[in-house]
Amino acid sequence: MVFRKMPDDLLGRIRTLHDVTVADPRRADELPRFREALHDADGLIGSSFRLDAEVLARSPRLQVISSISVGVDNYDLAYLKQRGITLCHTPGVLTETTADTVFALIIAASRRLVELSNHVRDGQWTRNIGEDLFGWDVHGKTLGVLGFGRIGQAVARRAALGFGMPVVFHDPFDVQVPASLAGHAVRASFDEVLARSDIVALTLPLSDETRGLMDAKAFASMKAGAIFVNGSRGAIVREDALVDALDSGHLRAAALDVFAVEPLAQDSPLRTHPKVTPFPHIGSATHETRRAMAELATDNLLRVLDGDTAISAFDLSKA
Ligand code: DGY
Repeated sequence: MVFRKMPDDLLGRIRTLHDVTVADPRRADELPRFREALHDADGLIGSSFRLDAEVLARSPRLQVISSISVGVDNYDLAYLKQRGITLCHTPGVLTETTADTVFALIIAASRRLVELSNHVRDGQWTRNIGEDLFGWDVHGKTLGVLGFGRIGQAVARRAALGFGMPVVFHDPFDVQVPASLAGHAVRASFDEVLARSDIVALTLPLSDETRGLMDAKAFASMKAGAIFVNGSRGAIVREDALVDALDSGHLRAAALDVFAVEPLAQDSPLRTHPKVTPFPHIGSATHETRRAMAELATDNLLRVLDGDTAISAFDLSKA
């Protein structure tokens, strides 16, 4: 079953080998078909829908879920492990694009790009802008990277090598500083990263350990006037605490590509907050990268259904 829109040629590749049901469970009119097809499904391919134990229990034949995402927080990992279901994801192919997005968030928040562009669009540019609309430099600022995996390291490279920014990072795992960042990036504790950074970028995966990590205490530990950007998962942030930190003036600004609930609720204060630049989860959303993700996910699905090993299976051994 294909549970998200896919390029026609890739769908065609799957159809030549298997019986395919296409059903998007996020659409009320397709949900009954999705539920029915689960029963006979050997494989699922798609993304952006929570497949928990209750849903998957309806799928007794399931061998593989091929997620068109690098994040695997939509899946009940312990349940998949217990059932012996292979979970595939798409690391690698989206690293650089997502790092571009995170860097765009950094620049957007610091230089107030969206706000100032809207100033022009709204017809308010009637005289030279004054200090009240100035932004803040990005180059030379200290960047804190929380989560030094592929994407965190790619953000750090842009910062250190392109913008002359000292980088301080924290990662729960024993990640080594790559040779390209030697002398530019230093490891520190979570608290130290918060205390030393002018800009903090969140690039951690969502897990039981990271859910709600950025809470009131964490925001209070950031430098006064610091900027916060999130390109990973919204649920790592206590959004109420972020709003408080912005309202109190402790934080200068935030740029957010992800939210605890997506699409962002119309009544969320983050949607219209004057110090927040929100984006609709565009991390990997370029034509080239979404295509590469769909191709990799298709390859993973077909290989596992063919009895072969996946190119990029998620390691469930620690789940
Ligand atoms: C991912 O791959 O996990 C991204 O969040 C999807 O854009």
